Amino acid sequence: MIQNRFSSHLLLILFYLFPLSSIQAELVNAPNKGAAWRKTMQELYKILAEMTTDTSSDQRFNAPENRKRIDKNTKKLVDRAHDLGNKVLSTDEDPTVKMLSQLFHDETKRAELALKSGNRSYARGILNHVSSYCIACHTRNSSGINFSSLPLEPRVEPMTKNLSPLEKGRFYAATRQYDRALDGFQEIINDALAPIERPLEWEQAVRFGLSIAVRVKKDPAQARSLVERVIGSPHAPFFLKQDALKWKESIIQWKDELSKRALSEEGLRQEAIQLTMQAKDLQKYSRDRAADVLYLRATAVIHELLQKYPEGRYAGEALLMAGMCYEVIRPLILDELHEVYYEACIKKVPYTPTSEVCYRHFEQSVYEGFTGSGGTFLPEDLKKKLLNLENLSHPKIFDKSQIH
Ligand code: HEC
Repeated sequence: MIQNRFSSHLLLILFYLFPLSSIQAELVNAPNKGAAWRKTMQELYKILAEMTTDTSSDQRFNAPENRKRIDKNTKKLVDRAHDLGNKVLSTDEDPTVKMLSQLFHDETKRAELALKSGNRSYARGILNHVSSYCIACHTRNSSGINFSSLPLEPRVEPMTKNLSPLEKGRFYAATRQYDRALDGFQEIINDALAPIERPLEWEQAVRFGLSIAVRVKKDPAQARSLVERVIGSPHAPFFLKQDALKWKESIIQWKDELSKRALSEEGLRQEAIQLTMQAKDLQKYSRDRAADVLYLRATAVIHELLQKYPEGRYAGEALLMAGMCYEVIRPLILDELHEVYYEACIKKVPYTPTSEVCYRHFEQSVYEGFTGSGGTFLPEDLKKKLLNLENLSHPKIFDKSQIH
């Protein structure tokens, strides 16, 4: 209360001290926020074009004449990633942007340390996949700019060789050239021998293509034609064909629902809950990917809700649902994103039933992550983190009779 009165007095003083013209000047400058972000993105695009070229082969990555450029570009990636969300702000209010900026920075820093300690092949692995962070941020839904084509192209030497179609598709998706990305993925999917000769690349192309058609393009016809290719492909893996039959059903249902979209906070929340629940119902086991079309649609809506109402009354719930969806589609986007959502949810709405559910998911995911091939050891700092989050998560009981 005291603080409120103090801050409203402070506001009045500020109004008297600074004439209106300076406040107006601030407002006029507001679009600069978007301009600085775009400038940073353009820089990232140039770095990515060079980096995709340099990481295209071990030989190129390790050639002495390329090392200086690789080191310099890695440093630039670390610095630009650090700027995002700190020095340079986005007009996109979805808290995901901040989370991904942090993950992007951590990952580029890891690459930089690996290069400094001479662990070049590990560094190449990271740098070769740095586009995953661009893709994760850009393909959340249909918001933002879409380029039909941009001038810079990654190259492979000798010049007669090309980047693999999957790498090209990833580069285009990372740089918001979505039609070119889809063409690239489609080219792989249409290749009848690819499921035999390059089965993992083929599967990735299917998943990336589906994600862009559903989330960015919001185009059931495009998604349907891609899924039909999978169903009709003579050499496609059995499990993927089975999933594709379910995806097709989801796409037909989606087409019927397309005209009934709600845009209000309430409407978006309803749609997000409905899609997430339908997706959960359709899955037969936790790693089942048959509900991917529903999960992809759910995430697109959740991001829209978070973009429009980042401080709204459903923000905690939205973060929980985002965590649940990304936990299923994690091989497509980023492995650790769901845990970041659960953690953000606990901090956003502490001491509530929602934060308790988020904590449950977080704890389970951490336990599962540490009971793999690495043994059964939970690091001390993680134990501490779990304890802190648990303390924030359980609803507080104010019933005095419970205190002894
Ligand atoms: C943390 C999220 C995030 C990450 C990571 C990210 N971007 Fe972006 N990017 C955005 C947002 C948000 C926009 C603005 C979209 C809009 O409103 O048009 C954008 C826009 C762009 C643009 C268009 C700029 C313009 O001229 O309008 C390019 C190009 C781009 N990003 C490239 C990249 C590349 C390449 C990477 C990875 C090396 C990357 N971005 C990583 C969020 C991100």
